[in-house]
Amino acid sequence: MILGVSGASGLIYAVRALKFLLAADISVELVASKASYRVWQAESDRRMPPDPDEQEQFWRQEAGGVTGGELRCHRYDDVAASIASGSFRTLGMVILPCSMGTVAKIAAGLSSDLLERAADVQLKESGKLAIVPRETPLSLIHLRNLTTLAEAGAKIVPAIPAWYHNPQTIEDLVDFVVARAFDQLDIDCIPLNRWVGS
Ligand SMILES: Cc1cc2nc3c(=O)[nH]c(=O)nc-3n(C[C@H](O)[C@H](O)[C@H](O)COP(=O)(O)O)c2cc1C
Repeated sequence: MILGVSGASGLIYAVRALKFLLAADISVELVASKASYRVWQAESDRRMPPDPDEQEQFWRQEAGGVTGGELRCHRYDDVAASIASGSFRTLGMVILPCSMGTVAKIAAGLSSDLLERAADVQLKESGKLAIVPRETPLSLIHLRNLTTLAEAGAKIVPAIPAWYHNPQTIEDLVDFVVARAFDQLDIDCIPLNRWVGS
């Protein structure tokens, strides 16, 4: 599957997603936007390397040193990458966290970097696209752009955790959101206390 990481706050969402995907042996194509480099520095004081091989090692380390699974990192400006084409078969794409900038650019069909192009391809091919927006409050423009994406077939999964599953840690809260995003792609690889009725 394709994991898009934009420059919204909450890179821990992407890290947890990757950890579970690789542990489940799901092959991951990862593209991080230009702005996400800056957010990495702000949120962890770490610099994400632009070189795809070094970036793979970086993400694996962040995900707890996971060695298994297949991970390919792409440069944000490599619009000739596999995931930029509709002929590339995939389970779908999750963008998490998703900035309002990326929401706007996908809604406008700009495809100005690889992440946006890969999302555009999912929409045109009727593939699965789950967007995990992170912003608060939302302006009317944000809401309209999110509506446009929902109308085009994307699933909007806001980074809003629930509290009924008895979360004990920040990871529990993060994993709830990631699991709901994965649900949209029928990927079930996160152990979660799901509500089973009372
Ligand atoms: C530390 C930091 C946190 C940010 N958090 C958010 C956020 O939560 N949501 C958002 O929409 N933009 C956020 N931004 C702004 C985006 O990074 C900025 O709009 C950027 O142009 C988005 O580019 P991208 O969508 O191509 O990743 C943040 C920026 C920084 C530096």
